[in-house]
Amino acid sequence: MRTQLNRRQWILASAAAPLALRPILAQAARRGIRAAPIRLHSNENPYGPSQSARDAIAAAMGESNLYPSAKYRELEQLIAAREGLTPDHVVLGAGSHEVLRMTAMAYGLAGGEIVTAYPTFEGMERYAARIGAHVHRVPINDGLVMDLAKMDQRMTQAVKLAFVCNPNNPTGTITPNSVLQPFVETASKRAVVFVDEAYYELVTDPSYKTMVPLVAEGRNVIVSRTFSKVYGLAGLRVGYALARPDIASRLRAYRTDNAINILGLRAAIAAYQDPTFVTWSRDSIAEEREKVVTKLQAMEYRSVPSQTNFIFFNLKRPIGDFQRAMAAQGILVGRPFPPYLDWCRLSIGKPKEMAAFMDAFRLVMNEPTGN
Ligand SMILES: Cc1ncc(COP(=O)(O)O)c(C=O)c1O
Repeated sequence: MRTQLNRRQWILASAAAPLALRPILAQAARRGIRAAPIRLHSNENPYGPSQSARDAIAAAMGESNLYPSAKYRELEQLIAAREGLTPDHVVLGAGSHEVLRMTAMAYGLAGGEIVTAYPTFEGMERYAARIGAHVHRVPINDGLVMDLAKMDQRMTQAVKLAFVCNPNNPTGTITPNSVLQPFVETASKRAVVFVDEAYYELVTDPSYKTMVPLVAEGRNVIVSRTFSKVYGLAGLRVGYALARPDIASRLRAYRTDNAINILGLRAAIAAYQDPTFVTWSRDSIAEEREKVVTKLQAMEYRSVPSQTNFIFFNLKRPIGDFQRAMAAQGILVGRPFPPYLDWCRLSIGKPKEMAAFMDAFRLVMNEPTGN
């Protein structure tokens, strides 16, 4: 379908695209392919922000002259009450990225080594590498799930931090509680275990459990969460860590004061108390995710079971070529995740966006047109 080019929308939307894809997107725009690229590459929530968050942002505009510290306390109290913890356990950050950076600095400086799965979310590894910390990467197993037995073997004396991501990004797979909890209990006797639960609110599989109870028990465990995914506030940058108060203080030492602004905090406070949006958003994403999985499966493209707002599927051709070919159709898909260079991470958009993805996919992959 040809739509009229809206130059301003294009500039805004393609500015976030990987640099190498921008000329391809611009050319697609010139050909009038799409009014703005479809963003299926960053695991954003296409339904956010909720109306309650939008109202809170509008109300917060008039408070933009004020420092946001009181709102930090309000959000910390809300989170602590829901999790059965105290506000001393809660460390807010400018997205969970800031929490990852604080943790990398707290445990990676002074020669601390870090154990992580591979591939997994790169934030921790990237920050750790920047400060010169040694990172041990443990490949995920054949089922594309974290290999916790192998990670456990790498927990030497020099290791100060283990990073686990559940559900894992880029695979979308979960590690069930029966496997994760024993690992976290044992490993946290030797080092701090960081459990990234960015997609926690999207999970429906009953075998999955949060590791927050281990924080409450006083173990060496940090759990991170974010307002970027199910709450749909990625552009406002709000995330948090839950940890024993002494660990939380250690992280706060590396925090930028007042890094989250008043709009982000007020939006997060509203979104956190809006369960209707969370449930609706989670269910809408899951419904669309299962439809895409079924369509890909019918064409014999295998994906691993996802509990997130993205899927990881075997493309059977190099992802780099595919990414460029899709950009030429005005669609952004996930970047390469070595060593899975013939797999694609695809974020779940709205039904219309996914229909456009399927059309472009069939064209690019030379698959017959279907429903
Ligand atoms: C597993 C995981 N952790 C953390 C993040 C960082 O999210 P944010 O900094 O927006 O909270 C992401 C973002 O995609 C993620 O997938």
